[in-house]
Amino acid sequence: MINCSQPKLIVALDVDTFEQARGLVNALSPAVDIFKVGSQLFTSCGPVIVRYVQAKGKEVFLDLKYHDIPNTVASAVTAAIRSLDVGHQGSADYRTVLMYTMHISGGQEMLARAVEAAQNTAHQMAVRRPLALGITVLTSETRQENTQALVLERALIAHKAGLDGVVASVEEAAMLRKEFGKDFLIVTPGIRPTGSDVGDQKRVATPSVAIKNGSNFLVVGRPIIAAQDPLQAAKDILDDIQQG
Ligand code: C5P
Repeated sequence: MINCSQPKLIVALDVDTFEQARGLVNALSPAVDIFKVGSQLFTSCGPVIVRYVQAKGKEVFLDLKYHDIPNTVASAVTAAIRSLDVGHQGSADYRTVLMYTMHISGGQEMLARAVEAAQNTAHQMAVRRPLALGITVLTSETRQENTQALVLERALIAHKAGLDGVVASVEEAAMLRKEFGKDFLIVTPGIRPTGSDVGDQKRVATPSVAIKNGSNFLVVGRPIIAAQDPLQAAKDILDDIQQG
C-alpha cells in the first residue's frame, strides 16, 4: 500500500498504444511506483492497460475526470472498481485502482454519490477503496484574479462530499494545505524541472517547490515520457522531490 505521508511521483502514461505504455512501464519500473492512465490511453486500450500495470506490481491512477449526472458517475466508478483485475478477486494480491478523478464542477451530489458507490463496491468485493480526487481548476488554465478563490470553493465542495483530496496546481497547494490540514491529499500536475518545456501547462513549478508547498503526489507526463532517457529523467525528478 502506498504511504501518502511521503511525497510520491506519478508518471502520466499519455501515449496512444498499449505497446508504448508497456515500454514506458518497463523502462520506469525500477524508479516509479504509480502510473496514471488518462483518457487518451484508456480510450485506445481500455482496462487491459490498467491490469497490465497492476500485474507489474505497480499502482494505477485512473484519471478519467468523470463529469456527468450523479447516477452515471456513481455507475462509472462502480464499473471501474468491478472491471479491473477481476481474475484475482478475493485473493491477497487483488487491487483496484489507487485513485480516480472527478470534476468538482459536477457538483456535491455527483461527488458524494460516487464516493458512496465506491465505498459500497469496494466493501462488497473486499478490496481497498480507491482514493477519490476532485479536479479543481485545470493547470492548463491561465491564472485569473479569482483562480485561488475558485479552487478553494471547489475544494470545500470536495471536502464536504467526502473526497480524499483534490488535484490542484502548485500555486494553490500551500493555501489548500493550510485550509484543510495534513490529511487532505493534494495531487499536483504542471510539474516542470528547471529548463524543461512548459507545453500547454500554465500554472507550473519545479518538483521541489511543489513539495515545499504541500503536494503529496506530483503528476509528470512529458518531461519524463518524451525524454531521451525516461528513467534518468524520472530519477532526476525523484532527486528534486527529495530536495523538497
Ligand atoms: O505532460 P504533462 O506533465 O503536462 O502532463 C500532465 C498530466 O496531468 C496530463 O496527463 C494531464 O491530463 C494531467 N492533469 C493536468 N491538470 C489537471 C489534472 C490532470 O495536467 N488539473
